[in-house]
Amino acid sequence: MQFFKRTLECGNVSEELVGKEVCVNGWVNSRRDHGGVIFIDLRDRSGILQLVFNPENLNDMINEAHKLRLEYVVSAKGILEKRVPEMVNPKMPTGEYEIKITEFSILSSSKALPFQLDDAEKVSEDIRLKYRYLDLRRPRLQNMFKLRHEVVLEIRNHLAEHGFLEIETPLLSKSTPEGARDFLVPSRMEEGHFYALPQSPQIYKQLLMVAGMERYFQIARCFRDEDLSADRQPEFTQLDMEMSFVDEEDVFNICESMMQKLLKKFLGTELTFPLKRYSYAEIFDQYGSDKPDMRFDLKINDITTAFESTTLTFLKSTIDKGGKLGALCVKDKKFSRSELDGWVNKVTKEYGAKGMIYVRFNEDKSHSGSISKYLPDNFFDLAQACVPGLTTNDTLFIIAGDYNTAWSLLGKLRVELGQTLELIDTSKQSMFWVTDFPMFEWDEETKRWYSVHHPFTAPTQGWENVEPKDMKARGYDLIWNGYELGGGSIRIHDATMQEKIFEILGISKEEAREKFGFLLDAQQFGYPPEGGIAFGVDRIIMILANTPSIRDVVAFPKTQKGSCLMMETPSTVDDEQLKELNLKVIKS
Ligand code: AMO
Repeated sequence: MQFFKRTLECGNVSEELVGKEVCVNGWVNSRRDHGGVIFIDLRDRSGILQLVFNPENLNDMINEAHKLRLEYVVSAKGILEKRVPEMVNPKMPTGEYEIKITEFSILSSSKALPFQLDDAEKVSEDIRLKYRYLDLRRPRLQNMFKLRHEVVLEIRNHLAEHGFLEIETPLLSKSTPEGARDFLVPSRMEEGHFYALPQSPQIYKQLLMVAGMERYFQIARCFRDEDLSADRQPEFTQLDMEMSFVDEEDVFNICESMMQKLLKKFLGTELTFPLKRYSYAEIFDQYGSDKPDMRFDLKINDITTAFESTTLTFLKSTIDKGGKLGALCVKDKKFSRSELDGWVNKVTKEYGAKGMIYVRFNEDKSHSGSISKYLPDNFFDLAQACVPGLTTNDTLFIIAGDYNTAWSLLGKLRVELGQTLELIDTSKQSMFWVTDFPMFEWDEETKRWYSVHHPFTAPTQGWENVEPKDMKARGYDLIWNGYELGGGSIRIHDATMQEKIFEILGISKEEAREKFGFLLDAQQFGYPPEGGIAFGVDRIIMILANTPSIRDVVAFPKTQKGSCLMMETPSTVDDEQLKELNLKVIKS
């Protein structure tokens, strides 16, 4: 079997090579037999190019050419020629050219594929994930990984130019404070002891600041055993960064200059920098989310006062208990009754809301809807006072409840309305910072405070004089087109402050020592003021590639259930391995 070293990548033909001998290597993408002359579209990573196998040039070898089938691997030599004008294929980037093959060799045959690459989008994702290495042959996915490579290269170069060192940190580690469930790895040498795979390199990067590295970054693998979704994988990649002697402005500047480069290079877009900053409170109040997509409007309006004299007991008792009614006003849209029922169904059945009210108006300002007979005649005027610009062409979706619950539900509904009604201007980019997060959230079940970010996040100035519920964190998130792209904070570097925060969190001195003793020790040996951030690399690529699924940008992704259909992981191990680890599986 003769193998001709490649001198031309299929996608990179050019005028100056015409008439010259070239060698190509690749896969048979398609095959046509025109009366004995065989036309093959050969595919390599760079593109597709037509090869012509003509008996006139090949003598007996033409019989071998008849054996060529889809996905066979071929090495071929021939003369690059321009096609005659009537044979030019304008749909192919290389459609003006073809190679007249003089010698070739079949390097590998292929069974019929379990799915046709051209039709892959119609095939179930499970099949494609089982044969992921075949799905990855598709130009669409190949382009994702080219993009991913280029983006990470750009990030590395940018950070290197700004004095960052790339440093790797261990994967066999200890539980970190991000708050998801850990993936554990049993130790063979220390019976009953476990490593935890890092949810992020958080503590290591803080220790690197103690170590005087000053500016660190890492393209870091992270592991979180949490519920998966379209933008979440159990193992994912962070661009993790940490900097000494900085405040929020320094972190924002370095991140913004990096984002500016990425947007310009990969989307050809210029955003207005510095980016806007919003407090968590204002963003949540308007959008019911800490990561709103601002490419469409549809804000939440507090409509409680329009219901102040309501006779409906469930609404009255909500208002009496300090609850609120929030309304989304869909402009210039008359929904049908069944459409509205569909939305109510979604909100109650899928989101778990207790209910949703809708109100439609007639030209004379009279109203109809789910609770119309309980609404006063002048409801339109009352509502208009709460919903600026309300017209009788609009429809109101209203949810009542305690503020956080009602607003979160409306936030979710807002996103779905935006997508379904195509309100999102996809030609726009929306990127901004959210700051001033609450420091803690109260958990009714365990009756204790939890960190909204993590226990090393510094509180804002004056924290000593406010209740935990009112304390704000020096944390920040970067939001892009409705995704949380990254998050970080300025860290606590003062041991007394750290102790107080642990105290509020109900973490005893012993527990703090056991969990983070090494960090607390390190903090006593000259700990610089510092802060950092981590970005989801997979999410950056998703947005740049304009794909809604994180699985498209991960070479070998897990399903929603956390399994790899190709390797069939997770899998059982044999008893011998368990014995070595002193483990026993107890079936529930
Ligand atoms: P955080 O937990 O906010 O912060 O994570 C940072 C970013 O990582 C991405 N991300 C994920 N991407 C895919 N799948 C997941 N399961 C997943 N979980 C998180 C998101 C998120 O914004 N140590 C801190 C950072 C710091 O304080 O510096 C941390 O990990 O894009």
